[in-house]
Amino acid sequence: MKFVIATNNQNKANELKRILEPIGITAQTPAMMGIDLGDIEETGETFRENAEIKAEAAMKKTGLPAIADDSGLMVDALGGRPGVLSARYADTDEEKINKLIGELMDKEDRTAHFVCVICCCMTNGEKIFAYGQCDGTIGFAPRGNNGFGYDPIFFVEGNKTFAEMTDHQKDAMSHRGKALRELSELLLNRFSKD
Ligand code: IMP
Repeated sequence: MKFVIATNNQNKANELKRILEPIGITAQTPAMMGIDLGDIEETGETFRENAEIKAEAAMKKTGLPAIADDSGLMVDALGGRPGVLSARYADTDEEKINKLIGELMDKEDRTAHFVCVICCCMTNGEKIFAYGQCDGTIGFAPRGNNGFGYDPIFFVEGNKTFAEMTDHQKDAMSHRGKALRELSELLLNRFSKD
């Protein structure tokens, strides 16, 4: 089955594609289809609302079932910030990382959680949601060159950042990997009923 992935973020698209393709889901970005999704305004107050807004807009624009994720980093000592505003916390990834390290300078609690909600919007408007979370801690300096966003300061199980892992290692424990595996199960169940 062919799906469109509602994102302009190539890193995210790559992660989504490499997990969906082995289960028989062909996923294309709008750019690969020559379609400009434009800037879909993320006006929701939750990851779920924003994932739904993006998936519905992409389905309407392309006429294909659409998959969108909304994700972010929730830091306990900051009351869950940057949360749904993770992409808008600062302009570049480097600035985001430096700002977060600065905000946590005098905080003892460095626990944080990556959260991902995926919405799959079918062409009849039916929506399927999946959720994934990965718990970790925020480091004092960036480490590693892989991944994107906050990966270089997010330590999982205390010893490695996401940016020091291979794609395969990150997928096995990441919020997005977990949400996608849940989505795969839900889609397989959904289509076995047709
Ligand atoms: P959005 O889902 O497009 O609103 O963007 C979420 C933002 O959260 C991204 O731009 C990144 O800054 C951050 N983020 C989400 N998932 C990850 C991840 O797997 N690694 C690092 N940063 C992430």
